[in-house]
Amino acid sequence: SSNTLIVEPNAQGNKGVTLITLNRPKALNALNSEVLEELIAAFAAFEADPAQLCAVVTGSGEKAFAAGADIKEMIEKQSAEFYLEDFFSNWTGEIVKKVRKPWIAAVNGFALGGGCELAMMADFIIASEHARFGQPEIKLGVAPGMGGSQRLTRAIGKSKSMEMCLTGRMMDANEAERANLVVRVLPQDELLGDALKTAATIAAMPPMAAIANKEMVNAAFETTLDQGLIMERRIFQILAASEDKQEGMAAFVEKRGGQWKGR
Ligand code: HXC
Repeated sequence: SSNTLIVEPNAQGNKGVTLITLNRPKALNALNSEVLEELIAAFAAFEADPAQLCAVVTGSGEKAFAAGADIKEMIEKQSAEFYLEDFFSNWTGEIVKKVRKPWIAAVNGFALGGGCELAMMADFIIASEHARFGQPEIKLGVAPGMGGSQRLTRAIGKSKSMEMCLTGRMMDANEAERANLVVRVLPQDELLGDALKTAATIAAMPPMAAIANKEMVNAAFETTLDQGLIMERRIFQILAASEDKQEGMAAFVEKRGGQWKGR
């Protein structure tokens, strides 16, 4: 664990599940450069550890997942600095492209601006009744900068995304569920348990198959249908050569659980 994050491998006894908690509750877990750097390091460690197979990211405290990029940090920056540092580029690229293992966002409160964008980088979102989603950057004279205009639109469609970006309004958990932004909504005190249990279910799957399933679903956002279908078939054919495919099918026929080798 680090200054602004709590990182717990095998969290609460869930084998293979890493829990990463954003931990700046007084600033509503606003994402300053320290949090973002520590998050990249935490994801790299998770990705590198063969014993950790699914991660959950959540926010500490009752109020927020993350209330956005840190406005007090951004107010000091001029346009040239944002541009020359290519602000947020390594960050959005690192997490989405380099983390091949599955991870879940457990949204326990405000997920605004960069917080909403971080949640949408996850493979899926589980929300509590307290969750609020929004891209309020327009009110600050800016616009989403960590993927919000693209990922929100892909997730919930043009009308709702456009309205949210243009008005900066928040969407509550139930609306987010109706809009397919989140998988499901739970009472606040059941959120983390459900997210960890879901992650444990994924962590108990054959690990190569988990990575392959994630890769395939993500390809649907990047390719034509024909290319995606070819990619799906090729990955399926590669998986068919794995030891875990042999074990998985044998275990089914023999009516027992599988013992995964991860290859
Ligand atoms: C820095 C923040 C913050 C943020 C909240 N805080 N959000 N600090 N950056 N994004 C701090 C407040 O300053 C305050 O600290 C403390 O957290 C508690 O917040 P309050 O506002 O007092 O709480 P409340 O009245 O309950 O209101 C909650 C809220 C509001 C509705 C979530 O805090 C809010 O609107 N926050 C900003 C949301 C936002 O605009 N996010 C988008 C950021 S832009 P102090 O010390 O003052 O008491 C962004 C851009 C990404 O993410 C890409 C750009 C390139």
